[in-house]
Amino acid sequence: MKKISIAIDGPAGAGKSTVAKKVANELGFLYIDTGAMYRALTLKAINENIDLHDEDQLNKCLLRNPIQFEIDQHIQRVKIGTTDVTEAIRTPEITKQVSLVASHAKVRETMVELQRRLAKEGSVVMDGRDIGTNVLPNAELKIFLTASIEERAHRRYLEMTKNGYEIKLEQIVEEIELRDKKDQERTVAPLKQAKDAILIDTSQLSIEQVVDVILSLARERMRGE
Ligand code: DC
Repeated sequence: MKKISIAIDGPAGAGKSTVAKKVANELGFLYIDTGAMYRALTLKAINENIDLHDEDQLNKCLLRNPIQFEIDQHIQRVKIGTTDVTEAIRTPEITKQVSLVASHAKVRETMVELQRRLAKEGSVVMDGRDIGTNVLPNAELKIFLTASIEERAHRRYLEMTKNGYEIKLEQIVEEIELRDKKDQERTVAPLKQAKDAILIDTSQLSIEQVVDVILSLARERMRGE
């Protein structure tokens, strides 16, 4: 079986991380959540009172505080510097600010370098916004996951209310639309489907159905087909 990389990109709430984690688990690949990396930097910068418009300071903060993924009892933990930020990076405040941090060229350059280094460690499933177009342009399998805005907002709503946040569905729709717009319109490596990516609309599909489609495509690529 050939060693392959799988790139999964798409807008917020399309199901990327849930699907990517399951695919990685099934194939025994390393899972790299690049959104978590931008979130970790955002949290660290806020805690250090860094102006989120200041790309030099943000980049220095990232260089001072390496990001690492660790597995603890089958759960992937994210660390920046010596701090475990796995749960803290999922708050609405971080979600609101992260697109700004991710818009800076210098920050993205350092992140991409780190992501490519992680990908060299073995077969990987990497999810994000620019993996197929920029981070791993030679990935053997590229997937672009999408879903209707209503469906994506509904999923985020269920996830957040389950975690104890009180939020209105309309507010989530607005926030997702704004984040998509920022991610698609930024000048450096915007969210875009790679030419050779396979588009999967998950609006009407279960997680298992999406995972099965990707697994069969991945196995074809691993056999060199
Ligand atoms: O997937 P997520 O919601 O955790 O991503 C958080 C933010 O990080 C998202 O709004 C855009 C940014 N991001 C990015 O610009 N490039 C990536 N490869 C991954 C995430």
